[in-house]
Amino acid sequence: MNNRSPGNPHLLKFIIASAVCFFIGTVHGVLQVMAPIRAWLDSIGSPYGGPGHMIDPLAHAHINVVGGVVIFIMGASYYLIPKLGGIAIYSRKLVNHTFWWTVCGIAGFYSTLLIFGILEGKAMLANPDSDNAVQAIHRFYGPVIGTVSSIMGMGFWIYFINVFLTIKKKIPLQ
Ligand code: HEM
Repeated sequence: MNNRSPGNPHLLKFIIASAVCFFIGTVHGVLQVMAPIRAWLDSIGSPYGGPGHMIDPLAHAHINVVGGVVIFIMGASYYLIPKLGGIAIYSRKLVNHTFWWTVCGIAGFYSTLLIFGILEGKAMLANPDSDNAVQAIHRFYGPVIGTVSSIMGMGFWIYFINVFLTIKKKIPLQ
């Protein structure tokens, strides 16, 4: 007799994405303390400002706290709310939207911070007397980081709406 519970395979991807983000975040963390890399990051402004700040702490912080922690919490709460509250999640479609907007958002946010941090850092060191080279790259940063931040934000906001509409079923607000 097969007594295995059907489980929630659609939530597994949250756990896998969280583990992958923690892996990237920890490798990033170790690399940024290696002496030659540390010296390079310090020379481009990390952690206080400039291109270095994008790599350490911004990219490192967000891949770990958003990619690792928040995505895990999203998956875990979509599992625990029905278990603890005895209520089905409002929308399975919104569960999947939560995942894909947040994952695409953090992937875009992290790679944007890394790519602009590295490119602007190289331009800054190659042209110590002029800011023009850095600005020639940085003028694209605003629209790109604005777009990927909005995608990441959508993942959060869809999650909040789905949880709110789920809870609202249990606690009628009239
Ligand atoms: C849509 C989601 C998010 C966006 C778009 C976002 C964006 C940003 C930006 C642009 C900064 C840099 C501000 C600066 O220039 O110093 C920042 C800093 C930071 N964020 Fe987020 N963030 C998000 C979510 C989160 C979450 C959920 C956490 C924690 C759970 C977090 C933790 C941090 C920390 C710790 C810093 C400061 C890093 C430092 O300078 O030491 N962020 N965030």
